[in-house]
Amino acid sequence: MTNPNFVSWMTATQQQVEAALEATLPSSERTPQQLHDAMRYSTLQGGKRVRPLLAFAAGELVGATAANVGRIACAVEMIHAYSLVHDDMPCMDDDVLRRGKPTCHVAYDDATALLVGDALQTLAFELLSTPLEGIAAAQQLSMVRTLAIASGHAGMAGGQAIDLASVGHELDQTELEFMHCMKTGALIRAAVLLGAMCGQPLTAAETDSLDHFAKRIGLAFQVVDDVLDVEADTATLGKTAGKDEANAKPTYVSLMGLAQAKQFARDLYDDALAALTPFGDKAARLKQLADYIVARSF
Ligand code: IPE
Ligand code: IPE
Ligand code: MG
Ligand code: MG
Ligand code: MG
Repeated sequence: MTNPNFVSWMTATQQQVEAALEATLPSSERTPQQLHDAMRYSTLQGGKRVRPLLAFAAGELVGATAANVGRIACAVEMIHAYSLVHDDMPCMDDDVLRRGKPTCHVAYDDATALLVGDALQTLAFELLSTPLEGIAAAQQLSMVRTLAIASGHAGMAGGQAIDLASVGHELDQTELEFMHCMKTGALIRAAVLLGAMCGQPLTAAETDSLDHFAKRIGLAFQVVDDVLDVEADTATLGKTAGKDEANAKPTYVSLMGLAQAKQFARDLYDDALAALTPFGDKAARLKQLADYIVARSF
């Protein structure tokens, strides 16, 4: 991540997303104060904002406006923040640290953490279903549908169910890929597709290429997460290191070992980049983000 142009774009985009989330989330002063405070606590000031960054980069392919991409980016990030709040609960991964702070259920309580998830999820759909300027209603409806599918039983929530049912079991590579693509890949893919749905229509072949990029980089993201859980320390990660082994989770590291898991992430990256070829220079940001996703240290 040495490209100064990319670093300044990433920082500016992260700040823009932070400001949009800050303005959109209900004030902590508003009743019920504890719920609103916990929603802000779990969403603001932390997180790499990878999904919003991908949405903005995909939006650049199609000339999307910053206002429209900003809205869909907030919606996707709220779904992501909700998934983390629930993922950390005692009934799931039972984690006490997230983004360098006590997890939501530790800082508040279990019931609040459940409700934060419910409220962030519904706020995400409220945002995505409020008319977007210059986007036809039918197009926006298919955007709502894209996020719903990615978040639900056939996407993130379904993947999390498989994750929990797989504790203590070995999965083969096909099963592991299926789980990872659902629990993490689906929302990353949605971020890319939604960004691209905010602008000029892509051809069917271009949509297929972008979709292939999104699927491969979404899987690579979780492979790297599995690697970092083993290789990085808690202070760097901002979440408890070594948690997958402690929780007997099947991961790419438990399946193939550290070196091969890293190689697999690089293979996925190569495949993802090859899919960007038809877009030429317009996909420069997506390429840089793919670099960041596989090379990141937390
Ligand atoms: C962590 O996601 C959970 C996974 C899906 C692997 P991120 O690594 O994007 O977490 P934040 O948002 O940066 O904290
Ligand atoms: C989380 O996977 C995936 C979702 C939250 C949907 P992990 O359980 O590996 O994420 P971390 O490592 O706790 O961030
Ligand atoms: Mg988990
Ligand atoms: Mg977890
Ligand atoms: Mg993990």
